[in-house]
Amino acid sequence: MQTIDVLIIGAGAAGLMCAIEAGKRGRSVLVLDHANKPGKKILMSGGGRCNFTNLKVSPDNFISHNPHFCRSALSRYTPSDFISLVEKHAIPYHEKTLGQLFCDHKSKDILNLLLTECHYVSANVQCNTEILSIKKNEPGFQVTTQQGTYQTSSLIIATGGLSIPTLGASAFGYKVAEQFGIKVWPTRAGLVPFTLHEPQKKYFESLPGVALNCEVSVQKKSFLEAMLFTHRGLSGPAMLQISSYWQAGDTLTVNLLPKQDLLALLQIAKNDKPNSSLKSVLQPLFPKRLLEIWLNDNNALQEYSLKALQKIAESFHSWQIKPNNTEGYRTAEVTLGGVDCDEISSKTFEAINVSNLYFIGEVLDVSGWLGGYNFQWAWASGFAAGQVV
Ligand code: FDA
Repeated sequence: MQTIDVLIIGAGAAGLMCAIEAGKRGRSVLVLDHANKPGKKILMSGGGRCNFTNLKVSPDNFISHNPHFCRSALSRYTPSDFISLVEKHAIPYHEKTLGQLFCDHKSKDILNLLLTECHYVSANVQCNTEILSIKKNEPGFQVTTQQGTYQTSSLIIATGGLSIPTLGASAFGYKVAEQFGIKVWPTRAGLVPFTLHEPQKKYFESLPGVALNCEVSVQKKSFLEAMLFTHRGLSGPAMLQISSYWQAGDTLTVNLLPKQDLLALLQIAKNDKPNSSLKSVLQPLFPKRLLEIWLNDNNALQEYSLKALQKIAESFHSWQIKPNNTEGYRTAEVTLGGVDCDEISSKTFEAINVSNLYFIGEVLDVSGWLGGYNFQWAWASGFAAGQVV
């Protein structure tokens, strides 16, 4: 049996950050993962360019039953801290939009950074390792794997959420929590495209690929970003963001022209060019394919009463759409819900009632918005635990 100071299960963003920090303190560290390589989600992230943080991170960008839980860790490890690490490794990056920082080249740069830092502090990462059992004993925990048994004084669960099982996601972390009597909030897919009911899917079948800026709202929450029609339904940043607030049965309200007053525009056009067709006025404002299915008729503007123009403007400014569902964990970027933060110390990430057992990253009931917030949570929680394990 091998003895190790810090045993981390999950070689993702949070687990690797924790390994680096614990290693810097001179602790012997082993990271175990059942996947064939570490950091698979990092590699897939940000369309292959890893949106590794966001310049404007605040606790308001996170969803949790305990909204205050994330404050402490986020304030102790900020986006600037991770940017310093990126700059130390001379990784070129840029701000894409809304404070989102992406690698100029590949996500692999970020994974290499983490693995290099692990190497500097002699933290070992071992993949292809199935965990068979975890038992609590006096000095800490005994962890049995297919490859052997380990005795550790600090056990860190960094196994993430359920999103994208093909990238190694599993319910392991939730099962460990339950084994030790720690509450787990029900989970559901977040940052995920919507599917539509069959009649709407048919109605919009000519639109896949059409993208436009919109403001989408549900449950008193709104996002002003791009949306995209797909073969299955609705996607794009605006829809992914709102999906984390959407509950089954909710209707979305979508403003397809959020920054302008369409009624005012139509009234001015009717006054100035009464013979112009409705479509010719709308064409500069909306994608052509969208207009083809949106408009019931296309007459000269002078033929439309004020009431008719109001109705047309309303159809763009306040489109009501009730999704059938989401695409689920198969394509979701995050998992909402998870290990109850009320049972975890927000300072150390140790379970309040189970000494030496820690939970970090997405396995916890903390989910960020789209835009680099989830990695910042992984870095910040991994960093915080790394100072004490
Ligand atoms: P993470 O999921 O990264 O790591 C968990 C590790 O545990 C995995 O390596 C897994 O194999 C391992 N594991 C699971 N079960 C195990 C078991 N039973 N035994 C052993 N090991 C086990 N966020 C962001 O901020 N910017 C972005 O650009 C993106 N982009 C993005 C794209 C895609 C396609 C997805 C799916 C997600 C994103 N995200 C993102 C979200 C981000 O990837 C995610 O929040 C973090 O990776 C979470 O980090 P963790 O370390 O907590 O889990």
